[in-house]
Amino acid sequence: MKDPRSVPMNRREFLYGAGALGTAYTVLPLNFVQRGLVTRRALNLNTLAKFVDPLPVPGVLQHDELRPSPLDPKFQIPYYRLHMREAETKLHRDLKPTHIWGFNSTLPGPTFEARSGQGILVEWMNELPTRHFLPVDHNLEGAEADKPEVRTVIHLHGGRVPPESDGYPEHWFVPGKSSVCFYPNNQDAATLWYHDHAMGINRLNVYAGLFGLFLIRDEFEDGLGLPSGKCEIPLILCDRQLDQDGQLLYPVSPDPKAPWVPEAFGDAYLVNGRIWPFLDVERRPYRFRILNAANGRFFHLELSNQMEFQQIGSDQGLLSTPVAATQLTLAPGERADVIMDFSKTPHENIVLNNDNLGLMQFRVASRATVSAAAIPKTLRPVMRMPETEATKTRELLLEETVDAADNPTIMLLNRKRWTDPVTEDPALGSTEIWSLVNGTDDSHPIHLHLVRFQVLDRQNFYVANYLRKRELKFTGPPVPPEANELGWKDTVRAEAGMVTRIIVRFDGYAGRYVWHCHILEHGDNEMMRPYEIRAT
Ligand code: C2O
Ligand code: CU
Ligand code: CU
Repeated sequence: MKDPRSVPMNRREFLYGAGALGTAYTVLPLNFVQRGLVTRRALNLNTLAKFVDPLPVPGVLQHDELRPSPLDPKFQIPYYRLHMREAETKLHRDLKPTHIWGFNSTLPGPTFEARSGQGILVEWMNELPTRHFLPVDHNLEGAEADKPEVRTVIHLHGGRVPPESDGYPEHWFVPGKSSVCFYPNNQDAATLWYHDHAMGINRLNVYAGLFGLFLIRDEFEDGLGLPSGKCEIPLILCDRQLDQDGQLLYPVSPDPKAPWVPEAFGDAYLVNGRIWPFLDVERRPYRFRILNAANGRFFHLELSNQMEFQQIGSDQGLLSTPVAATQLTLAPGERADVIMDFSKTPHENIVLNNDNLGLMQFRVASRATVSAAAIPKTLRPVMRMPETEATKTRELLLEETVDAADNPTIMLLNRKRWTDPVTEDPALGSTEIWSLVNGTDDSHPIHLHLVRFQVLDRQNFYVANYLRKRELKFTGPPVPPEANELGWKDTVRAEAGMVTRIIVRFDGYAGRYVWHCHILEHGDNEMMRPYEIRAT
């Protein structure tokens, strides 16, 4: 039986949905089986009081020192150190501290505040234990039994970063080691984020807590007069399963030798690392940087009073104009920059819901506040890329194979595994159209490193025919992207049974990057491919 509080989002979420309530995949973590401990029971979230913790806001990082820039040693640039450590953190007032892995011991990690055009250096320091506390599956590529159990490598998602600093999944380092990355920040103001990307255990490291926000600001954005200071707040969303002691449970398959599961969902929703927090707001506009940092959950956000809000930015920065909406869908990896204006709402409590389940509460102040500047009607111009600019179109199949019981066994991009030779090899500076042909029953958020892109359209096709003959037959007209998908993106929902087309200019650097599904369980099981930008 399915958890009644959870509204299934797709077939997968239905099958493996929230909690331990008798699905094929139980919540018995492998490591506890190995240690001979008995079953840990899932926490009944109804025992927790709602909206009793103030929303935590991750601290902003200060740099440790200045060091010569890799571009020109005459210039000194900020140098940050981040410590990945095991730690304990309170997820809710009524829970005991939860064991996590966090950057500087926090979940989420501290927030970077960078300026466009001003590079920084970051030393990522792995100070984690040598044993993992979540169930490693040694059958997965890169996580074989001969590999160190605990490895990390950090990727700046959305960053225009030279290949050696991009966090290539195989460039992991072990506890006691560190790695220095250079982030040039030569890009528009945007809501980026950083997270672990280690081969084969990425889903576990992120689930343990290794992620945080990275904001880039620029003068153009400064000039818009958007809400700032205490009126600009990140909302970092994820879901987790917890046991009765409030400890993280990562679901496992019934086979202890192959614990990987195709998705991991939890019924505990965290906003900035807290379950059901509240935020006192004044009667004025607020700017929220919303990030879906979940392993596999899609969020469908809505306010309990049906209040309209304005989306002003997406993954790679500002939209050309604000998009008014009452609902917002965010797939794993996607971001939305949103203005919520509480100036016209009465003194009341408003709940931010996901599929009708509360995530957090806004408590609107009783007194009216001084009026704030209006949101500009136009933001940053986004030139739509003409299709004629593309010199190549690639047809890329998203596919999953299932076993006799219809359980997914492997997820593939274009029928290739991670270790197969590179097939996507655009020339530096060239433009391509990628047609993401989704032959599965689920939406997959596809992310390309390094680049930003635009969504062209989506179109239904005859799946069985394609899988058999690799021949595209459309069964409906092309559907234009949604209004909030008309800006620059780096992660796109490739919808089930549709061809999703994106147009990409491969600017920046030549070298090796990756593209993958941002459902981390998929990326860890072959839904990730290297790609190579060829120098010309
Ligand atoms: Cu946010 Cu390659 O990932
Ligand atoms: Cu990325
Ligand atoms: Cu996927």
